[in-house]
Amino acid sequence: MEDSVSVGLLGVGVVGSGVIDLIEQHQAKLAHQLGCNVHVKSALVRNPNKARDVDAKTNGTLLTTNSDDVLNDPEIDVIVEVMGGIEEARESILKAFKAKKHVVTANKDLVALYGAELHEAAAENRCDFYYEASVAGGIPILRGITDGFASDHIEQLMGIVNGTTNYILTKMHNEGVGYEEALKEAQDLGFAEADPAADVEGLDAARKMAILGRLAFSTHIDLADVEVTGINGIDLIDLQYGDNLGFTMKLIGFAKFDGKQVEVNVQPALISKDHPLSDVKNEYNAVYVYGEAVGEAMFYGAGAGSMPTAAAVISDVVAVIKNMHRGVTGSQFVEPRFEKELKTEAQRFGQYYVRFYAKDEAGVFSRISSLFNEFDISFKQILQNPLKDADAAEIVVITHKSSLEKMHQALEALSKLDEVIDTKSFYKVEGDAEE
Ligand SMILES: NC(=O)c1ccc[n+]([C@@H]2O[C@H](COP(=O)([O-])OP(=O)(O)OC[C@H]3O[C@@H](n4cnc5c(N)ncnc54)[C@H](OP(=O)(O)O)[C@@H]3O)[C@@H](O)[C@H]2O)c1
Repeated sequence: MEDSVSVGLLGVGVVGSGVIDLIEQHQAKLAHQLGCNVHVKSALVRNPNKARDVDAKTNGTLLTTNSDDVLNDPEIDVIVEVMGGIEEARESILKAFKAKKHVVTANKDLVALYGAELHEAAAENRCDFYYEASVAGGIPILRGITDGFASDHIEQLMGIVNGTTNYILTKMHNEGVGYEEALKEAQDLGFAEADPAADVEGLDAARKMAILGRLAFSTHIDLADVEVTGINGIDLIDLQYGDNLGFTMKLIGFAKFDGKQVEVNVQPALISKDHPLSDVKNEYNAVYVYGEAVGEAMFYGAGAGSMPTAAAVISDVVAVIKNMHRGVTGSQFVEPRFEKELKTEAQRFGQYYVRFYAKDEAGVFSRISSLFNEFDISFKQILQNPLKDADAAEIVVITHKSSLEKMHQALEALSKLDEVIDTKSFYKVEGDAEE
């Protein structure tokens, strides 16, 4: 067994600095667990003279702008990719596998798009490829799913996997402010990027749900299979009506598998206040897992940040080194077992929230109710508010369970009804007793 394992870093930014720092701080613990020291030998950066949160040089780490110093150093066994981006990160990882080095990454964008190709390259070269930090930062959810649920059948996952959108929705809910104001505050506090599109449009959460779905259901899920709706069109009034009816608005990543067919989507949904996900506030993340044997389990914690993410990265480095010592390439995230088959809208069931304006006349509501009945949809909760200065009312309904196909057909028919002025919003309802 080697006395010391050398790690090469690609990137010393928010996450990379945390990796250097944590490895230094916990040398004794790592040595106790692994029977060897772990040392970050060199690190690729764009600008070696930039001021950093960690003093790499005092830790004995060489900062370099030449990727060969890291990827082709024969003393380095493990590459940690924390530079972000897609093409360059992908090429570097493929090079690392060719050089027979194990790879750990935090890069969800890359894993969501090229996970299959990278797994293949890892297997061909008998290398490990781990990416715990790519989903929900510091929460050990990938290992939780693959190891903790190894003998279980995971039926359903629901995740709050984007801290920015959760922060914005919490602020809107708690303080009654609109979307734009909440977004601006999130940007001022550093919880949202100057260009927040990937977060607020749901793409970041979609990437994480593709990774989670693949591992939970052992089927290949492409990013394009994940239906995405962001929070950018959200109206405060729907959070407020939802609140009155016993629900909290969250951006929910949802994945379901019945042993044959799968559905994965990301959308703002109204979640029952009785469900544990409704209490996940601010920038926190959580993943709720329903397993046939285990029942309900929820993983909660920091979804980003230097130290939480670095801790997840290092847990992968530890797994790699243990595998090296045992002489196995563990690749815990194994080949999919099932062919992918996506559920159609007719096979997807749920409860729904609909808000619309209708003429305030006698008999209107019973006509609307009959229309929904024609599609086998009945109402569980109803709210009706007269609109100021108009002969109209705002109506909010929460339906009993229906197929998504029938729900879309009912909404189409609703929009054609003379008594209906406008359909304002439509959201899925999750975590109600009917689920
Ligand atoms: N931040 C989080 O909380 C978090 C959480 C989960 C996952 N992640 C993922 O972790 C990865 C890293 O995120 P981060 O926040 O640490 O990024 P970051 O702060 O922007 O750091 C990126 C680092 O990579 C270096 N770098 C980038 N492109 C390079 C290139 N072409 N050549 C050489 N060096 C290059 C930069 O060098 P310079 O320092 O010289 O500019 C910097 O040190 C991303 O994939 C991200 O999605 C981040």
